Amino acid sequence: MLRSTFILYALWASVATAASVPKDLKACVQKAFAASDPDKRIVSPGDATYTDARMGEKIQFDEFPALIAYAKEVSEVGPLVKCALKAGYKPVARAGGHHFLAYSALNNSLVIDLAHVNHVQVSADKKTAAVGSGIRLGGLYTALGAYGATFVGGICPTVGLGGLISAGGFGMQMRALGMAADYVASAKVILADGTTVVASPTSHPDLFWAIRGGGGGTYGIVVEYTLKLSTFPRSAMLYLSWNETWNKTGNVRYDVAKRFLAWGPAQPKEFTSQVNVFKNSIQVVGWYLGGSAQQLGQIVNASGLLEIGSPQVVVSGGCNTDNSRLFGYTTFECLPDDQVDASIMNVIPEPYSKYADNAQFTYEEVPKSSTRDQAWPWQRTRRLSKSFFMQKSKPLTDDVLKAVVDRIGQADDGAQAWGEWHAWNLSSTDTGSAFAWRHQALAHLEFIAEGSEDAVVQEMREQWFADVEGLLRPAVGPASYPGFMDADISVNPLTAYYGSNVCRLVGIKSKYDPGNVFTNPSAIPPKAPQGISC
Ligand SMILES: Cc1cc2nc3c(=O)[nH]c(=O)nc-3n(C[C@H](O)[C@H](O)[C@H](O)COP(=O)(O)OP(=O)(O)OC[C@H]3O[C@@H](n4cnc5c(N)ncnc54)[C@H](O)[C@@H]3O)c2cc1C
Ligand SMILES: *[C@@H]1O[C@H](CO)[C@@H](O)[C@H](O)[C@H]1NC(C)=O
Ligand SMILES: *[C@@H]1O[C@H](CO)[C@@H](O)[C@H](O)[C@H]1NC(C)=O
Ligand SMILES: *[C@@H]1O[C@H](CO)[C@@H](O)[C@H](O)[C@H]1NC(C)=O
Ligand SMILES: *[C@@H]1O[C@H](CO)[C@@H](O)[C@H](O)[C@H]1NC(C)=O
Ligand SMILES: *[C@@H]1O[C@H](CO)[C@@H](O)[C@H](O)[C@H]1NC(C)=O
Repeated sequence: MLRSTFILYALWASVATAASVPKDLKACVQKAFAASDPDKRIVSPGDATYTDARMGEKIQFDEFPALIAYAKEVSEVGPLVKCALKAGYKPVARAGGHHFLAYSALNNSLVIDLAHVNHVQVSADKKTAAVGSGIRLGGLYTALGAYGATFVGGICPTVGLGGLISAGGFGMQMRALGMAADYVASAKVILADGTTVVASPTSHPDLFWAIRGGGGGTYGIVVEYTLKLSTFPRSAMLYLSWNETWNKTGNVRYDVAKRFLAWGPAQPKEFTSQVNVFKNSIQVVGWYLGGSAQQLGQIVNASGLLEIGSPQVVVSGGCNTDNSRLFGYTTFECLPDDQVDASIMNVIPEPYSKYADNAQFTYEEVPKSSTRDQAWPWQRTRRLSKSFFMQKSKPLTDDVLKAVVDRIGQADDGAQAWGEWHAWNLSSTDTGSAFAWRHQALAHLEFIAEGSEDAVVQEMREQWFADVEGLLRPAVGPASYPGFMDADISVNPLTAYYGSNVCRLVGIKSKYDPGNVFTNPSAIPPKAPQGISC
């Protein structure tokens, strides 16, 4: 099996190479990069580093771009867009490369990789920072930490800022503070004709609205954001864990999940929490922004969760901002300041571990802190996933919830399938972004599993996800997170990701990119799409 997969893959790669030697494109990119290291920053299908360079976080064999160009200056991006169009390819922006379907590395495209466009210039008053759109969250947090500031972003240190803000951006402070998209003051955007505009509440406000939550790779390429900075107060952290012992007592996983969905979203807005539903165990974790261990202990004691089975309970106070970023990775407790290992945040532009035997692309891999250790390489996966928003107006029935929890229990061991379900019910800090589910979402139900290189196993796992879709979609409706795109969604994807904003976004798209230069299979088109009348 392994051997035949390998032969098939080798054949595939060579076909891709032979079919598309993009000479004109390459010459044009070399010119655009003439100021420094033109040949070190271009990867073609024939290069040993091509497989590594075309893969983002996901191990995938669906998308084979024509060429990958690693920009390092904002000023290179406009000329790169023109190179792509002149040679007949689509320009595709890539920041962190986490897109679940690899839409930042499409076939027949020039990938404009922005991971090295990662400058962080903090203003004198430390209230804002001009930041390269390709920076990874860990690098951003590390750089801002040196100024005693932070950004209301997401959790994973290797996610890119460009993709996060395009999707909306949620994290463990969101119920009180809102989404990453709310913390953008302005953005510099390269349009389809290669020109640059500033998008802000007063300059191209329609574009400014769309690029925050209206989907990535659609309206233009954001090269720089001006971010509004925050500081987090001392906070408290919760970890409740029911291990496999409690699986034996019957409905513990279901009882906890049910109690959580009623309790988590109803708590004070400073408390953001999630339940992790595994095959044989379950956890509840949470972050109480500005709260003490005493305050958190009170809401946990009153939750009813402690009466289910006999969980391990950790309630710890005095957490700092670094703790908030490590949450869920290295620790579920607040470590004292001098013991926090923030190196996990100190990521380099190419932060991934090697895939199989493929040579890795590297170029000026400089971390944001020279005194902290560098983050260890981030493991790529064959991730399979789904996303559903449970709406305030349509809570899950007990029967459906029970069936979903059972379904997780039935997944094969190797799938490592689990549900990561976040309490939403965000408070009203909305700055008016295109993220569609802000006011209606009560909880986000994410499902994650490992894919397999064995086609039969892969098929079985895809069927498992199809069953989850069949169970949940009719129960919760179309709403899904645009940062978790899913090729097998059973409803119109545009409605799922953009809700009632679709027509407004189509109008903005047709104004700024009528020729559909920036696009991908789930992007807003310049004309009303089939099935939707605007
Ligand atoms: C392990 C993991 C953890 C995650 N955790 C969180 C989380 O805590 N919170 C959360 O909200 N989301 C989370 N996500 C989802 C993540 O935010 C989205 O997948 C996001 O789109 C990834 O951004 P990226 O820049 O890394 O990806 P990319 O693949 O580089 O880009 C994603 C999309 O945005 C476009 N794009 C990228 N940069 C630009 C730009 N500068 N201008 C215009 N378009 C651009 C791309 O073309 C592509 O369509 C997580 C995903 C993974 C895999
Ligand atoms: C991309 O191109 C390869 C061949 O180069 C092909 O096998 C693959 O199916 C294509 N992907 C998509 C999504 O069409
Ligand atoms: C939403 O959260 C607020 C606290 O911020 C709470 O008062 C309200 O009851 C919650 N709504 C729901 C539907 O849980
Ligand atoms: C929560 O309950 C535990 C066990 O009864 C008790 O020891 C603890 O003091 C309580 N915490 C608070 C903050 O009330
Ligand atoms: C499972 O949880 C119980 C109760 O918290 C604990 O006593 C036991 O040691 C745990 N077992 C394992 C294997 O972690
Ligand atoms: C745990 O629960 C799953 C279903 O949720 C079941 O298949 C499995 O046998 C249980 N394990 C034990 C040890 O009871």
